[in-house]
Amino acid sequence: MTKDLVLEKVSKKFGDSYAVRGVDLVIKDGEFVTLLGPSGCGKTTTLRMIAGFETITEGTITYNGKVINGLTPQQRKFGIVFQSYALFPHMRVDENVAFGLKMQKYPKNKMDSRVNELLDIVGLRQHKKKYPAELSGGMQQRVALARALAPNPDVILLDEPLSALDAKIRVKLRAEIKQLQAKLGVTMIYVTHDQEEALSISDRVVVMNQGVVEQVDIPVEIYKKPTSEYVADFVGSNNFCNGVLKNGTLDIIDKTFVFKVDYDSSLESQTITAAIRPERIEVMNNRDSSKLEPGNLLTGELIVFTFLGLIVRLVVKVGDKEINVDMLEKNFTKLKLSRGDQVTLYLPPDGFLIFTNK
Ligand SMILES: Nc1ncnc2c1ncn2[C@@H]1O[C@H](COP(=O)(O)OP(=O)(O)OP(=O)(O)O)[C@@H](O)[C@H]1O
Ligand SMILES: [Mg+2]
Repeated sequence: MTKDLVLEKVSKKFGDSYAVRGVDLVIKDGEFVTLLGPSGCGKTTTLRMIAGFETITEGTITYNGKVINGLTPQQRKFGIVFQSYALFPHMRVDENVAFGLKMQKYPKNKMDSRVNELLDIVGLRQHKKKYPAELSGGMQQRVALARALAPNPDVILLDEPLSALDAKIRVKLRAEIKQLQAKLGVTMIYVTHDQEEALSISDRVVVMNQGVVEQVDIPVEIYKKPTSEYVADFVGSNNFCNGVLKNGTLDIIDKTFVFKVDYDSSLESQTITAAIRPERIEVMNNRDSSKLEPGNLLTGELIVFTFLGLIVRLVVKVGDKEINVDMLEKNFTKLKLSRGDQVTLYLPPDGFLIFTNK
């Protein structure tokens, strides 16, 4: 039997209101799963119920075939890493890492070598005699990770462990956490509100919205096939519009545009929300557009462009609408565009995501 963690109809109520409602989720042994969503959507509450710090109002959590609802955090033996480093300030690095081992009555004669092994894993052996206050934020979070790993838990729970760190360290450390997880084969459940972090680090992403799970999938599917407008909006960027699907076209509600759009025939005549990502829109300046759908070609004024490294984000004003378009910097530079220039855009029929309004 593999050590899966299974949440069935798990809910948490504070007073009369649900912080988490009806969460069903199977986390496989050795999987890296991220809970993603905006502030207040219930990520921490879900993680705390898994950890045993929060009682479960309804539903069951099963681990390795056994219901763990009634177990204390100590009995669950999951490793935990929080946003704030939560190291013991009066203990040195090696003592912090040894803490969980002592609690577990780890053999004294093996303690030193285990602590050294863990500090090697996180690259901090030479700092073992320092106190937390003598370390940078990134180093402190590495110590917290080593401390969580020390008792060799099967599951590690991490609540926004990188959010207090600066951008560069965050990207470096998240890659390290991912590599470590893969190497050790430990199950990780990771909480973040940062969609880029979630997509880059996870085997699967759980997108939450006001206490409920909106979508669970591998990162590329979450990005390419969001199942709701909420997920399409929260993950990455999108240009949205409302309209009616008719005879292979999308008639925008205010009649400004009629786009040719690929859609499932079951959606005929429905009023929907359509979304197209900035990178799916093509800039046609200097390109032959004669064979393209004429209704999907729009001309407008370049009002802003922002250099983002590999890509440039353009804001093009068409009528009273502002459309975001991403293009490769090298292609943008070739076109020698300036603010105020006319830009012709192509919105390909297969570039639209369609969401029925619930
Ligand atoms: N101890 C508590 N008592 C009452 N309400 C609570 C308690 N803890 C959380 N809540 C409420 O539950 C909801 C979910 O909170 P939670 O901390 O799980 O959100 P989160 O997704 O982790 O947000 P953030 O990204 O800000 O950390 C919020 O509306 C919050 O106010
Ligand atoms: Mg939280």
